[in-house]
Amino acid sequence: NKRFRVGVIGSGNWGTAVAKIVAENCLEKPYLFHRDVKMWVREEEVSDMKLTDIINSYHENVKYLPEVTLPFNLFAEPDIRKVADGADLLVINLPHQFLGSVCDQMKGIDFSKSSAISCLKGINVSADGVELLHDVVEKKLGLHCGVLSGANIASEVARERWSETTIAFPLPSWYQQGDADDNLIKELFYRPYFHVQVSDDVCGASISGALKNVVALGAGLVEGAGWGDNAKAAVMRRGLLEVIMFGNVFFPGKCRPETFTTESAGVADLITSCAGGRNVKVGRAFARTGKPLEVIEKELLNGQSAQGIITGREVMELLTATKKEDEFPLLGAIYDIVHNKLHISNLPERIAD
Ligand code: NAD
Ligand code: 13P
Repeated sequence: NKRFRVGVIGSGNWGTAVAKIVAENCLEKPYLFHRDVKMWVREEEVSDMKLTDIINSYHENVKYLPEVTLPFNLFAEPDIRKVADGADLLVINLPHQFLGSVCDQMKGIDFSKSSAISCLKGINVSADGVELLHDVVEKKLGLHCGVLSGANIASEVARERWSETTIAFPLPSWYQQGDADDNLIKELFYRPYFHVQVSDDVCGASISGALKNVVALGAGLVEGAGWGDNAKAAVMRRGLLEVIMFGNVFFPGKCRPETFTTESAGVADLITSCAGGRNVKVGRAFARTGKPLEVIEKELLNGQSAQGIITGREVMELLTATKKEDEFPLLGAIYDIVHNKLHISNLPERIAD
């Protein structure tokens, strides 16, 4: 029987937490997977040492996931092509603004017998409209790509505190028998502390994961302004509505409505992100200090990315280009507060039904 070789592309906070999960399963299931897992690390110096050397010597990603011991069969590798070449399954996990350039670094590798899972949360907006990230991966690398998205704050998952996630990996018609299927994908990601719900809705899972980051920024704004839990719940309610509408307007007929309201990738991710995610922290600090979001991100996150900052801009670019701003009053109000000096006291009126 074929054994699958797994390569992880990305080693940030979530990248490293997911690599840990995958390496644990590769170690436990030698009949399905090759034991050793390479993880691409964008090389940088930390305390005068290369980050790859630190990870390989001490089994800890001290910069992006400190105080979590990584499995001995997970190897940090600075050369992305050495990770990707020969991998049957690529787990792609980086801040979404770098996806295009990172895929370009893998150009020319033969992926005709490989598959991928995207763990990114974001969308890609250009003059041509909006694209989902697994589609970007499929086009750029020429392989089948599914999506993993859920209520998954990385530091909790890495500490093996129980979480659920949603994986959508619907098989395309051209798929060959013996290629990776959703059972194999479940074997790769399921842990006793990380429960997997399998779905076929890549579109719903992707949109929820991307848009909730902007809603979480908004939740942070009302928290930072000193408003209460009721106000935050109102932002979350309106946010969920606009996430669902975004799917209907820009991907009509492609998302299953239940994904937004019943899956981990939907409402559960919105809740956990608005409670304890990085975007909520950035929104809170903006309301308190008024500093530009990128400055706050730098000051608070030590190289990590709050994806709602860029996604908020991309969403607004799309809504403006398609003249749909009025249909998404919360997303518009969040944008105006953080970029156009709209005072937060205007928020309730802006989103009134
Ligand atoms: P992160 O926010 O920790 O970002 C740091 C990573 O970005 C590092 O690996 C760094 O090397 C890399 N990076 C910096 N500049 C780069 C460049 N120019 N090119 C390529 N890489 C560069 O990343 P993360 O937390 O692993 O997030 C990855 C994705 O997973 C995001 O889309 C995020 O929304 C999503 N996600 C995150 C969490 C979480 O709790 N952290 C949970 C679920 C999903
Ligand atoms: P933040 O990026 O806001 O921390 O959210 C993490 C996440 O996606 C939790 O599911």
